[in-house]
Amino acid sequence: MNRFAGKVALVTGAGSGIGAACVDLFTAEGALVVGVDINDTNEDVLYGDVTDPASVDAFVAETVARHGAIDIVANVAGMVRFSHVEATTLEDWDQHLAVNLTGPFLVSQAALPHLFTSRGTIINVASIAGVKGQAYTAPYSAAKGGLVMLTKSMALELASRHVRVNCVCPSGVDTPLIGAVAATIPADVEPRLFERLSSVLDGMVDPADIAEAVAYLASDAARMITGTAMLIDGGTQS
Ligand SMILES: NC(=O)c1ccc[n+]([C@@H]2O[C@H](COP(=O)([O-])OP(=O)(O)OC[C@H]3O[C@@H](n4cnc5c(N)ncnc54)[C@H](O)[C@@H]3O)[C@@H](O)[C@H]2O)c1
Repeated sequence: MNRFAGKVALVTGAGSGIGAACVDLFTAEGALVVGVDINDTNEDVLYGDVTDPASVDAFVAETVARHGAIDIVANVAGMVRFSHVEATTLEDWDQHLAVNLTGPFLVSQAALPHLFTSRGTIINVASIAGVKGQAYTAPYSAAKGGLVMLTKSMALELASRHVRVNCVCPSGVDTPLIGAVAATIPADVEPRLFERLSSVLDGMVDPADIAEAVAYLASDAARMITGTAMLIDGGTQS
């Protein structure tokens, strides 16, 4: 398929995991892609911090300078650490909100003038933690829940301007994030709360599964879909 020939896609969190998978899929299907990350930058991935308005303005401007437009914004950058609520510091709380919620807001807002011109689309990577809650990750779950509602609210407001806004809500995806976060799980968690995270399908969600969903929502095939929160969770929620 070549669903994105001539389209310009801006992908945050492009240095790893789901963001890298989105870059690969958009590129393979003909898009001109600008990937942005705070880490793992190289000649293909621009440095950018989604929490910093000046940095966001700079990488949005660089995308337009390179390719003349923005058709697709994929807000993938994110972070999570586990902690008990009572041990969560204000710094932890602020960082989770900044990266997972304020970041997508800033990137979307900066890209909007270009999306109005292109009649473009935004896809946010939220989480099932933001739909049903998740123990030991209250700031993350609150931020991702906020991202789901940011998605739905922007979808309503921007529909008449021909900009679609959707999000995907994965369960555990096999990326470096999982290994990094596992090291932060407190020793005294209640195991039954982790059972709620188990998929009813065999295997684990792959970054390519999420990229496929992001690409579908970005494609013309999803032209009548806006404000949706698509669960990609192996049936975890059931
Ligand atoms: N892996 C999972 O199990 C899982 C499940 C549900 C949702 N998600 C979400 O998917 C998204 C991608 O996660 P992943 O699993 O690919 O993780 P990952 O750690 O492999 O990739 C996340 C990327 O975001 C980048 N990033 C972090 N802060 C940034 C910032 N301020 N500015 C720019 N880039 C920044 C990181 O450097 C990293 O390269 C995240 O939003 C995450 O919350 C992941």
